[in-house]
Amino acid sequence: MIETLTIAIGADHGGVHMKTRLATALRDAGHEVLDFGTDGPASVDYPDFAQAVCAAVAQKRAAYGVLVCGTGIGMSIAANRNPAIRCGLVHDVTTARLTRAHNDANVLALGARIIGEEVALDILAAFLGTTFEGGRHERRLSKLNKTTEPTP
Ligand code: RB5
Repeated sequence: MIETLTIAIGADHGGVHMKTRLATALRDAGHEVLDFGTDGPASVDYPDFAQAVCAAVAQKRAAYGVLVCGTGIGMSIAANRNPAIRCGLVHDVTTARLTRAHNDANVLALGARIIGEEVALDILAAFLGTTFEGGRHERRLSKLNKTTEPTP
């Protein structure tokens, strides 16, 4: 029996095909998907989709978010502006596992022009299948949103 999760997903035009593939896989696995678009090839702005997905995660309407753009870089930068979000830009299964185990990432960013869709599916499975280790990592997470004085 798998744990049924609600996952928020979004992409820009560079990631829309991969997003569709990931959303289908999530639904096939029994998860609920909140799809914030985009849904076609027309050029759009990635921050709009990152902000919608991250709001759903921050408001606990979704357990996790998945963001796809051409490189994953723009999406990850936009996502990490939200103080409730820890977004990992991931290119392989190992960093997918570790960004959950060590960073308690709640959003996954992927680059559709960088990795293949089969790799992305394996990454998503590793991300959802890994729990946060806590311990020393909890202390580090607690420091993430502390502002520091600029050094003179
Ligand atoms: C869109 O052309 C592209 O800039 C975007 O998908 C992403 O790669 C940005 O980081």
